[in-house]
Amino acid sequence: MSPLASLTSIISSGVQTLEYAYSDHGVPFPSLDEPYCPGPLDNDAAVTATTHLIVAAAYQLIATVRLPIATIHDYAPSMYMSSALGLVTDVEVPDVLKDEPAGLHVDAIGAKVDVDPGKLARVLRYLATRHVFREVTPNVFANNRISSALVKNQPFQQLKAKKSINYDGATTAAIVGHMTDESQISNSFFIEYLRDAPKDVEAPFHLAFKTKLTLWEWYEEPSNRVRGRRFANVMAGDGERFPATIFIEGFEWSSLEAGSIVVDVGGGVGSVTLTLAKAFPQLKYIVQDLREVIDDQAQQYWEQKSPQSISDGTVVLQTHNFFKPQPVKDAVVYFLRGIIHNWTDAMSITILKHLRVAAGPSSKLVIFDMLMLYACPDPAGLPPPPYPLLANLGLPVGGFITSFDLHMLNMLNGQERTVNQFMALGEATGWKLEDVKPGALGVLVFSAV
Ligand SMILES: C[S@@+](CC[C@H](N)C(=O)[O-])C[C@H]1O[C@@H](n2cnc3c(N)ncnc32)[C@H](O)[C@@H]1O
Repeated sequence: MSPLASLTSIISSGVQTLEYAYSDHGVPFPSLDEPYCPGPLDNDAAVTATTHLIVAAAYQLIATVRLPIATIHDYAPSMYMSSALGLVTDVEVPDVLKDEPAGLHVDAIGAKVDVDPGKLARVLRYLATRHVFREVTPNVFANNRISSALVKNQPFQQLKAKKSINYDGATTAAIVGHMTDESQISNSFFIEYLRDAPKDVEAPFHLAFKTKLTLWEWYEEPSNRVRGRRFANVMAGDGERFPATIFIEGFEWSSLEAGSIVVDVGGGVGSVTLTLAKAFPQLKYIVQDLREVIDDQAQQYWEQKSPQSISDGTVVLQTHNFFKPQPVKDAVVYFLRGIIHNWTDAMSITILKHLRVAAGPSSKLVIFDMLMLYACPDPAGLPPPPYPLLANLGLPVGGFITSFDLHMLNMLNGQERTVNQFMALGEATGWKLEDVKPGALGVLVFSAV
């Protein structure tokens, strides 16, 4: 079969599989024109795998059939997607349209969000042309499945009044805010950083904001606390966005003795701990992070999500800098989710060494992080996908990981790593890799040697 015929066949058989899955569940396939509502198959493993194949094949089909110059014309100005998403999320257009199924004229939208209607119409049309919002009739816009995912957690009138807490509980909007504000500003220094920056400049972020602070220290500055709070919402959403099974089944938690201590190192608000504490309430958890995160965001998170876990001592929130000696000795498990990818090898080695010094002979180290996949065949990569897809499945899998890899470089001089790179970090710090579970987030279990 030709590459084009193979790609179309992956798409058509995938679509058939999706239609069967939805009809088996007695639910219609969600319409792109309707607001998003969580559905029973959203996190179904077979549906997700099929969706990945369809998306990978569709993108490869577009890259194959289009003239190269058309693809370049599409990719090169993609910063306008960030700007357009950033604007509508910041001024809360999806929230204005939330209760307007027939849509609103852009004059009315512009008046509510204080943006010039003629310019706003152009931004909304750019997005509607890319399936974010729907242009119902000329200049009348409504939410669709994708734009509705940006609706925040409070009524529009409240959002207008209290800017510092606008992203609380609005985890998808928070990603857009984080990516299109401090990350996009940093990204405008990305080329200069790689080509010309002195070696002591850690990341484009440092050039952009003229600071030597790490992103985390910068978030703790009074002038950046709103951004820091928004970032805490991004991370809280990651706890919920990744299927809970990654954390629950990633390690044999149920084999641990009741009362065993599990430390969530750099745990943010502790959203992974919340998932684990619900599933394994017999264990004791310590969530560690920097002072501002623990005293402000984490305290509030637990008050809202599970105050009982704090009052009965199942979960303890603790201020700790992971570049200093680890105060909790001989914990049964030290785990890190989305931490190692923030740091260079040298800094990661310091973090892991502190944990190794604190560990007892049977302590385990569990790392939840993305696993970098090559775009070419690799015996350690995914099982080979159907011809002619890329070995890392292109956009839906490898695309996501490589985006985050550049995001880590942009903001932190961090990186996503292959299994072998993680193994080398373990070998340098006295941790032996004994189990790897691949997936949307890889799970790496190490024992102390
Ligand atoms: C990408 S977030 C991950 C948070 C959490 N593990 C999760 O997955 O939700 C990185 C976290 O590392 C924390 N952090 C950064 N530097 C730290 C340090 N020196 N000591 C402790 N935590 C730190 C940040 O405050 C932030 O909460």
